[in-house]
Amino acid sequence: MLASSQELVARVNVLPGTQVVALDAATVTPERFDLMRSLDPQSLPDLMVLGEHLPVDRALAIARDSDLRYPTIDVVVVGEPEPGLLVELMRAGVRDVLEQGVDEERLLAIIRRADVHRAAPPVPSAPGAPAAPPSDPEFSRVVTVISPKGGVGKTSISTNLAIAMAQSAPQDVVLVDLDLQFGDVAATLDLVPTRTMEDALSPEAASDTLALKTMLTVHPAGLFVLCGAESPAANEDVTAEQVRRLLAQLSSQFSWVVVDTAAGLDEPTLAALDVTDDVVVVSTMDVACVRSVRREVDLLSDLGLLPTARTLALNLADRQSGMKVKDVEAVIGLPVDIVIPRSSDVQLAANHGRPIMLRKKRGGPFVKAIKSLSDRLLSHAPQAGHKHKRLEVA
Ligand SMILES: Nc1ncnc2c1ncn2[C@@H]1O[C@H](COP(=O)(O)OP(=O)(O)O)[C@@H](O)[C@H]1O
Ligand SMILES: [Mg+2]
Repeated sequence: MLASSQELVARVNVLPGTQVVALDAATVTPERFDLMRSLDPQSLPDLMVLGEHLPVDRALAIARDSDLRYPTIDVVVVGEPEPGLLVELMRAGVRDVLEQGVDEERLLAIIRRADVHRAAPPVPSAPGAPAAPPSDPEFSRVVTVISPKGGVGKTSISTNLAIAMAQSAPQDVVLVDLDLQFGDVAATLDLVPTRTMEDALSPEAASDTLALKTMLTVHPAGLFVLCGAESPAANEDVTAEQVRRLLAQLSSQFSWVVVDTAAGLDEPTLAALDVTDDVVVVSTMDVACVRSVRREVDLLSDLGLLPTARTLALNLADRQSGMKVKDVEAVIGLPVDIVIPRSSDVQLAANHGRPIMLRKKRGGPFVKAIKSLSDRLLSHAPQAGHKHKRLEVA
């Protein structure tokens, strides 16, 4: 770990298993890091803390350089940057901001996260993956993952899908936890958010998209995450209008807004569907689930809330269910687009806060299915003449 604040250095040095090297900003150069890496790749730090006295330009340059050349190093800054600067810092690859007098628990969480990140560096785009969509600033699509049932894999699919999409469109994907009561996106991705949905739905964020961006948490895989609130009661009175506005604001900043939802069709989910371009409907091969999906699809269709761009994903597929894919299709009345096999390592990876998409040993059936889902959605990127109904936010 590299740090530059005397007090912080002293505090971190007493934490078990950590070693801090304090450096003058002038010595933090690419040459020095290249030299360290060439002598011993293990000698690169896990975490770089940029002190509050560092000039902004220098901090941005260090963060950008590190993000590009040494992506396993987490960079955090100390201080209280203005919202505009914070966005710039995060775009430069800064993962987090440490407030002055940060408590031990948070410090340890950040150090632990840097450790995990080093063990699982972000995966570069696979060869043959679809190219990032042309950087048309007007392009944006909202992808919403729904199901009438819980425990069918909505969160597993949305988190891994967002990571897969970010591999093709780095920094251009935001994942939103719209399971307002019991959302578990942050836990699944092992994120320690400082700001959550509660802040994002505040009047302050609703009237200032730049402020809203500071409420996102950066994930090392190159995506932004709007994490759910700590308390299930925090967003009890959220209106459909607030949700629509939030998603519109995010659409004005990101090409891809991936939304994880609660089971069923609660008000936030219906509001999200109102501004959704691509819906991913998740079913399992369980008869009760398949029937509920049929009813959900029919209802949405009656309400005019079923986007034409839809993907029916059959998750937890195995041969033991007694149902065949064509039985599912017959009940639901839609073709199954993606079959996602039951795969024991999905849960294991989630329990470790390290999504399966980011594991070094890749290529299992779950990963393949999510990649093909990601490719399918990315292929909806702008065709010539495509005009997206971009919602303007004052
Ligand atoms: N394809 C899969 N194979 C094995 N386990 C899965 C798969 N998809 C999801 N799971 C597991 O099922 C459980 C429920 O998944 P989750 O994504 O939380 O569902 P939901 O968000 O719909 O409630 C989790 O423990 C998850 O790890
Ligand atoms: Mg869930």
